[in-house]
Amino acid sequence: MQGTGNKAFDIAWVRQQFPSLKLQVNGRPAAFLDGPAGTQVSKQVMDAVQNYFLTANANTYGAFASSRRNDAMVASARGAMADFFNCDSNEVVFGQNMTTITFALARAIGREMKPGDEIVVTTLDHDANVAPWRALEEKGVVIRQVDIREGDCTLDLDDLKRKITAKTKVVALGYASNMVGTINPIAEIAKLAHAAGALMFVDAVHFAPHGLIDVKALDCDFLACSPYKFFGPHMGTLYGKREHLEKFKPYKVRPATNTSPECWETGTQVQELIAGIGAAVDYIAELGRHCDLGVKSRREALQAAYGATHQYESGLLNRLIAGLQTIQGMRIFGITDAKRFDQRCSTLSFRLADHNPTKIATFLGERGIFTWDGNFYALNLSERLSVEQHGGVLRVGLVHYNTTEEVDRLLAAVREFAAR
Ligand SMILES: Cc1ncc(COP(=O)(O)O)c(C=O)c1O
Repeated sequence: MQGTGNKAFDIAWVRQQFPSLKLQVNGRPAAFLDGPAGTQVSKQVMDAVQNYFLTANANTYGAFASSRRNDAMVASARGAMADFFNCDSNEVVFGQNMTTITFALARAIGREMKPGDEIVVTTLDHDANVAPWRALEEKGVVIRQVDIREGDCTLDLDDLKRKITAKTKVVALGYASNMVGTINPIAEIAKLAHAAGALMFVDAVHFAPHGLIDVKALDCDFLACSPYKFFGPHMGTLYGKREHLEKFKPYKVRPATNTSPECWETGTQVQELIAGIGAAVDYIAELGRHCDLGVKSRREALQAAYGATHQYESGLLNRLIAGLQTIQGMRIFGITDAKRFDQRCSTLSFRLADHNPTKIATFLGERGIFTWDGNFYALNLSERLSVEQHGGVLRVGLVHYNTTEEVDRLLAAVREFAAR
């Protein structure tokens, strides 16, 4: 696999950055195919968290050294996330996780809405990008849900166009599906939303470990993602266009600042993990520099990293799909044609005949292969695909630290399960 620049994708170097990949289960190396629920953490992240406790463990804006170090660290992490999103530092908000951030944002936007206003959500989305908007039904807001094309689990764009009307105030859309991997054409849909006078909110949680985010190119109004899905700690982050972060009013305690973005960061943040977020972005940039010696800025390095990992992950995905398709009773959900891999990421869900996915996940888990079963909170999709009442699906998540050997081990184990 080639990177974007000078060097081949160096999987050995990548794996050295993740100490936990050495874990053994029942005498076999663990295969972490559970990335969509949370990736492993690079040692740079672990060091940053430890360093925080050693040198900068204090609350914000105190008149003493550790507090000042803390403030500098938060500013630096905000700068890292600004490079990650391609926005300004004061457009980056930290929070507990994407779900909590989205509930808070929906409540703030909801303050400005009136009965009869509409919000568009989709069948493809994780419930964290559905329930916070549905909560506004209490105020008389009307929710419109866009359907999918069942054959390839892509969004039905004709239905979307019908559902966006002059009454639409927000279009809430996932960048990539955490169940079937479909990537949505966000920039195109943002244009439709804006033409109707609506705001565009993007859930990029699932996309973030797989592709470069560019909020300017997407022209979205808000975009949320969770660092624990892109090799960092358990937190959430939000990009908001500055004018919106200043205009909408979050619920907050009176003494806390009214200045954005801090006014959106309710209470004391988990500052040690904010240190880890900065390090997670720097890890990805370091990977980019390792793949392409010619890159200069951190943003360029991030671009190089994602260029290389997309190619590498597509190779793994191709191998996985080809192998699964040889197993009798296999039903893969979503896009399988390699020519369309730019429309999906390397997260794959399947059902094997009428086997309960929990049984398959348990069988694999005993062999040191970590996968997930169920609906992964993509409840609308699980119901739409009529798998919800049968235990959902088995999900295999491939990220850039996974290997062809792990894919082959998984395939052999699924074949063994099917043959029992
Ligand atoms: C696509 C997607 N959106 C939202 C979430 C919720 O993120 P968080 O756990 O940060 O609240 C998840 C978590 O799995 C997800 O996969």
